Amino acid sequence: MLKRLMVYISVIVVFSMSEAWGAINFIYPSPNAVVTSSGHFIFRLNQVETSTLRITHNGLVSDPVDVGSPEYRKLFQDYFIAQSLWDLGVNKLVIDLYNGAQKIESAEMYIFYAPADSNQKVLPEYSPITMHRPENELLCQSCHIMNPTPAQMNSTFENKNPCFICHKKMLAVKYIHGPAGSYSCGYCHASKGNPKHAVPKRGSALCFECHSDMSIQLKKKKYIHGPVEAGMCDVCHDPHGSQYEAQLLQPINELCLSCHGHIRKQKHVVRVTTGEGHPLSGINDPSKKGSGRQMSCISCHLPHGGDVRYYFTNNADDRMALCQMCHNK
Ligand code: HEC
Ligand code: HEC
Ligand code: HEC
Ligand code: HEC
Ligand code: HEC
Ligand code: HEC
Ligand code: HEC
Ligand code: HEC
Repeated sequence: MLKRLMVYISVIVVFSMSEAWGAINFIYPSPNAVVTSSGHFIFRLNQVETSTLRITHNGLVSDPVDVGSPEYRKLFQDYFIAQSLWDLGVNKLVIDLYNGAQKIESAEMYIFYAPADSNQKVLPEYSPITMHRPENELLCQSCHIMNPTPAQMNSTFENKNPCFICHKKMLAVKYIHGPAGSYSCGYCHASKGNPKHAVPKRGSALCFECHSDMSIQLKKKKYIHGPVEAGMCDVCHDPHGSQYEAQLLQPINELCLSCHGHIRKQKHVVRVTTGEGHPLSGINDPSKKGSGRQMSCISCHLPHGGDVRYYFTNNADDRMALCQMCHNK
């Protein structure tokens, strides 16, 4: 424990030397960490006189946060827990502590944000971290259940599911995946493991446990889409939820173009009189009349695979049959 704190000192810049090991114990993310998602920012105040604090994030100064009131202290004691929205790449954080109007301490640290789908190259001085380590969990367990029973871990009551209490931000999205929405965290996450709560099964092996019908259907297909064949369901779908239908990681066309970027540069399907290619977005899809669905890559291509080359929708077995879905003669 102490050893960890010692490590922290070397990276915390302590402007006032009144405390032996600094005013702030950064818990998550720890200094010089790489994070792959915007989650929470958690630290502990070792300076009891603090009444308010301000956080400066990449130059943007927050409003003062009241952490000294009895109400605050009753709920969170000396912990500060905020939801974060990291900038891509380097994030500089400066925490200023005040007692009334007087600044008493200041500390700064850096973290690096590199989401998996961003191709962001991580600078060598930053390294990966996990939150669920014994030394961190020790700090939380007086108020949170850190080692839930399987029943607690899968409790469908919001305020009884300990995973959900801390991870509710993750499910504050428009399209939520069935089992995550019913808080069946334990179905996919182990309670122990290394790192703790790791997912024992990877890729399609995990998904097909419940989507076995899809696995059977796919086996019958003549052509299977590259990433689906490779079992990489998670390059397109988030296992918890997202802002896009079918929990896609991005809007459909952006998702497809993230791998098939050449389609941006060439005229796809046809060259129409204006010199443009076929419309691929921004207009209703006539084959899905009444659904309000717009044209997109999946108006013509099935995302997982099909019985014809290019996995045309409706298994249209040639170009003409495909065109006729929307253009009658
Ligand atoms: C005390 C609050 C708390 C509880 C309870 C909690 N988590 Fe976490 N967990 C976090 C924080 C904070 C992170 C870091 C990500 C973030 O910023 O939200 C995290 C990260 C994770 C990660 C990523 C790996 C890691 O360790 O960083 C997984 C997986 C995870 N939690 C699963 C679970 C599951 C499953 C449960 C229920 C058994 C659970 N968590 C309960 C706070 C909590
Ligand atoms: C003094 C008690 C206390 C301690 C210690 C504590 N927490 Fe909490 N935490 C709370 C309370 C109270 C809430 C609000 C619970 C609710 O909304 O139902 C909370 C909520 C959270 C949330 C959810 C915030 C959100 O997004 O709404 C996270 C994440 C969290 N705590 C992480 C942690 C972690 C990680 C630790 C250990 C390093 C920790 N907490 C230690 C009291 C504490
Ligand atoms: C359908 C399976 C499934 C369910 C249900 C599920 N998860 Fe996950 N979760 C995953 C997978 C897969 C990953 C990615 C693991 C990896 O990359 O190592 C993951 C990753 C995470 C992470 C790390 C995410 C990040 O961005 O760093 C957290 C936190 C997490 N899960 C929490 C939860 C919580 C809390 C629940 C219950 C509300 C839950 N999960 C339910 C499959 C699931
Ligand atoms: C624990 C069982 C379970 C696991 C494991 C599971 N799913 Fe699901 N999935 C469901 C349920 C239940 C639904 C909701 C079915 C419905 O509403 O018709 C669903 C629905 C979906 C949907 C459809 C959403 C929609 O809008 O129609 C997608 C996409 C999906 N799952 C992808 C995945 C992926 C990718 C994985 C692997 C990471 C996975 N699932 C693993 C149970 C599971
Ligand atoms: C290339 C991106 C991509 C990959 C990889 C991918 N999906 Fe999908 N998936 C989609 C899209 C796009 C949709 C929406 C289809 C629609 O709305 O017509 C979808 C829809 C779904 C659905 C709901 C509708 C249906 O067809 O049943 C499920 C379930 C599903 N996917 C599961 C999976 C599983 C399991 C894997 C891994 C074996 C996987 N997906 C891999 C893009 C993908
Ligand atoms: C993670 C990368 C990735 C994503 C995302 C992706 N694809 Fe693919 N796609 C591939 C790979 C790999 C192949 C197989 C290699 C090849 O034939 O070029 C492929 C093949 C194809 C083919 C057949 C090409 C041929 O020459 O036979 C089509 C059509 C296609 N993808 C359409 C889509 C659509 C539509 C989407 C969005 C729903 C999409 N792809 C998203 C990687 C991706
Ligand atoms: C109006 C129907 C239609 C739409 C919409 C469409 N495609 Fe195609 N796509 C085709 C046809 C037809 C082919 C077969 C090759 C050809 O005839 O040009 C094809 C071929 C492909 C191929 C294989 C050939 C190549 O150039 O690599 C890929 C990959 C592909 N499409 C991806 C996409 C992506 C990504 C989108 C969305 C941005 C998209 N398609 C939207 C009809 C469509
Ligand atoms: C999923 C529906 C769909 C499919 C399949 C489809 N189209 Fe289209 N197409 C449209 C829509 C929508 C437009 C724009 C509205 C319009 O002009 O009718 C369009 C426009 C066109 C135009 C431009 C017309 C103009 O006046 O500018 C041409 C040419 C065209 N499509 C050819 C094709 C060919 C060739 C195929 C088959 C390879 C095809 N389309 C498949 C939906 C589709």
